[in-house]
This record gives sequence, C-alpha cells and structure tokens, in this order.
Amino acid sequence: MPNVPNAKTVTERDSLSLVSRRLDSGVCMANMSTWLDSVCYSVSGHWHHLFLASLIYRKYGMSNFYCAAPWRGLHINPRGDVKTCCAGDPNMLGNLNSQSIEQILHGPVMQEIRQSIQRGEPHAYCYNCVQAERYGRSERDWHNNVSPEFNCTTADNLEHVPTLIDVRWNTTCNLSCNYCAEACSSKWAALKGIPTKSGARPYYEQVCDYLEQHRDNIREVALVGGEPLLLPENDRLLDVIPEDCIVTLITNVAVDFSTNRIVKKLLARDRVGWSLSFDNTGERFEYVRHGADWPQLLRNLETLRPLMQSGQHWGGIHAVYNIYNATRLIELTEFARSQGLTIHWQSLYQPECLDPQRLGDQTKQLALQEIDSLLALDICLESERLFFQAVKSNIQSARDDLRTEFAAHIQDIETQYHTDKAGKFIQLWPELAESIL
Ligand SMILES: C[S@@+](CC[C@H](N)C(=O)[O-])C[C@H]1O[C@@H](n2cnc3c(N)ncnc32)[C@H](O)[C@@H]1O
Ligand code: SF4
Ligand code: SF4
Repeated sequence: MPNVPNAKTVTERDSLSLVSRRLDSGVCMANMSTWLDSVCYSVSGHWHHLFLASLIYRKYGMSNFYCAAPWRGLHINPRGDVKTCCAGDPNMLGNLNSQSIEQILHGPVMQEIRQSIQRGEPHAYCYNCVQAERYGRSERDWHNNVSPEFNCTTADNLEHVPTLIDVRWNTTCNLSCNYCAEACSSKWAALKGIPTKSGARPYYEQVCDYLEQHRDNIREVALVGGEPLLLPENDRLLDVIPEDCIVTLITNVAVDFSTNRIVKKLLARDRVGWSLSFDNTGERFEYVRHGADWPQLLRNLETLRPLMQSGQHWGGIHAVYNIYNATRLIELTEFARSQGLTIHWQSLYQPECLDPQRLGDQTKQLALQEIDSLLALDICLESERLFFQAVKSNIQSARDDLRTEFAAHIQDIETQYHTDKAGKFIQLWPELAESIL
C-alpha cells in the first residue's frame, strides 16, 4: 500500500488529486474501492462510492449526466434486490424479501436518485456507469436508446413505467466456467458446497403482475441468469410480454436447443438478440466452459443460422478476454468468421490471475504476438480491432505478478472441481504451461 494520508485529515481537494493520480496510474475500480475503504473514506455504507462517483465525475468533466433508467428500467437480481438497471448499486433500494416492487421504486432513495439525475448529476447509485465511462460507454446508453422520447425534467419523482426489463430469477446453471463463480452459477455453488438461495423466484407472481400492469409500455426484455434457457420463469415470462417487444438474451448455448421450451418460444418470435457466451473452440472450449459440449454448440448454431440470416434475429459471440484465449485468438476469430458471427469482446472481472497482464513478461509477449498476428490477418471487424488495440496499450503496464495464484487455480480446477480435466491444461495450452507453470 503506497503512502496515503489519513482520510479524516485530507481536504476534498487533496483527495481529488490523490484519486486523480491513482486513476491516471490505471488502477482498477475494484482496487480503488478497497483502497478508499482502507483509508477510511467509508464513513457509512455506500458513502465512498458517492465520493468517488463525484470525484470521477468532476475529474473527467462529465456534465448533464442523463439517464432514463430510474423512470423506465426494472432490474431484479437473483438475490431479489430491486433496481432500475443492472449497473445500479444493489444495496441501496430494497429487496423483495422485505418490500414490494412499488414500495421500492417509489421509495425515498429512488426519489433522491431521480432528483440527482434531474439536476444532471450522477448519484452514488450510478457509480458503475460513471466508472465505465472513463474508458467508453455505459449501461445508461442502452436505457436512453430504448426510451428516446423520455424527458426527465418534466417527469414526476414517483413515476415508474418500465420499458426495459431484466429479471434474473435465480442462478440455475448447467456449467461451471473456469472464470465464473457461485454468485452466478448454481453449478459452482454445488461444487463448492454453498447453498443456493432463490431471492427473486418466490416473487414470480408479484413481478408478473407488475409487468402485466405495464404490459403496453414494455419495449425490451433482457434474459440473463444463471442460464436463462434453464429458468422456467422465463418460459412463462415470454407469454406475459408483448409479442412485438425485443427480447435479448445472454446464453451459454450449451443446452439442447431441439428440446428446450424457451428456445422454442424464442424461435417463434421476431426481434430476438442472441449473445452467445464462449471464448474458445473445441476441447479448449470444453475445458473453460466446463460441462458444455462443443458438438452440441455447433448444432445449436445451425438452428439459429436461418433466423440470423433472415435478419429476424441477430447476435454474436460474447467473449471474455482472458488467459485461456490470449494465445488462441486467431482460432476463435476464424471460427466466428466461418459462422458469420461477430465477436463482442468483454474484459475479465475476476479472478485476476486469469488476466494475461498478470502472468509474467513471457506470457505478455505471447499475448502481444497473438494480437499482432490476428491483426495482421485482417479478419477482425472494426470493434474487435479497437478492443485489441486497447489491450495492447494496457498490457505492458506493470501489475503484480500472479503466476503462483494461477498455478493454484489450475491445481484447484484439475484436482478438486473438474477432475475429468486432470492434466489437460498442459496438453491444451503447452505454450502457457511453459511460460507460467
Ligand atoms: C454470468 S453469465 C450469465 C448468462 C449465461 N449463463 C452465459 O454464460 O451467457 C453472463 C456473462 O458473463 C460472462 N462472465 C462470466 N464470468 C465472467 C468474468 N469473470 N468476467 C467477465 N465476464 C464474465 C459470461 O461469459 C457471460 O457472457
Ligand atoms: S446511470 Fe447507470 S447506474 Fe445510474 S440509473 Fe442509469 S443505468 Fe443505472
Ligand atoms: S454458463 Fe454463464 S452463469 Fe454458468 S458458469 Fe458459465 S458464465 Fe457462469
């Protein structure tokens, strides 16, 4: 930990300069929060987020911060927290275990958030969007695009008419992907012996009643999960929402599309957007997206192809850039092109030991070589190229070396959680085994 003054003795101006220097040094936000906590900025609950959101807001000159979500969004996470958007702070508004949807969406914190947005300022609740916008776009663009005519300056502080819905009933999932965790996947929870709670599922009727009240206003429904194709509530939800509204989903493409009831309903609809989550091909795919079967994924893509080609449905690969694909980008990109799919690249959240930047100089060089070879092939779309240019400019900066943690990760995977994969890492990624293990 660098030399930091006691937060209680620094002025806000000093703090802004400290935070600015830390942001400029490329520290990630998760570490920033920990750092702020460690120097006691957190005097109560979410206060340091408020502080940080306002500092970033001022430093990066964001003005007229506008978002329709507090009036037009509905998000319920698997814990049963009610929010207006996925990015909003989950600990601020309320939970279905103790309050109704209406109580939460009309409550005092919600009114405070709306007032803040009406003044053109982000609220602490919006911390995730503020930090995402330092390098690009955030979730608020999505909400504003779905409700372009909405004007918050004339809206009431108690108004809530959901146009964009994202309800995650629980974390049921058939996979335990190597970079995922028990908070998102019931399979991981079972492997680790952690009981799975179903925060939103018991409130299915209440949620559907609320949606039915606002049925005519619903424009877009996002299905996530767990695995959204395995949640029976989504089957019923598709009957409640208007036939012509957009449905988007993020799916592991690892369930049998030929027998899945939710897939059947989705295939019968127009206007469905598919985010297909995978980041490797063949055996390497099966190692990382554990529990999935590559031939099944290929059959599922065959099922989707005619709808995608007709333009009724759209979508692409939703890939996470991490050590398991850092030396295999060409094979994934060539596969995507052969299927007519785009790749939407995401950054890894955690575990940090899967970040190619954290695994020593030799690994960084391998990752850079792979990016250069990929870019030289001229098979990338512009958005893919931009993503890798950003990776290239970040990867060289010094960060802690996590090779020991990575070796422990592989050890855990192969001897404790996915024992059917014992010895496979070395076989499937010999170049990494040499540079890391
Ligand atoms: C949690 S999953 C839920 C939906 C579905 N089960 C799936 O895999 O598409 C949503 C997205 O988060 C991504 N994801 C999972 N773990 C991640 C991590 N550690 N960092 C970044 N994205 C991650 C997945 O690849 C997927 O695209
Ligand atoms: S700015 Fe982001 S976090 Fe805030 S309400 Fe809008 S979408 Fe949610
Ligand atoms: S399929 Fe999705 S939810 Fe399930 S383990 Fe993988 S990333 Fe997590």
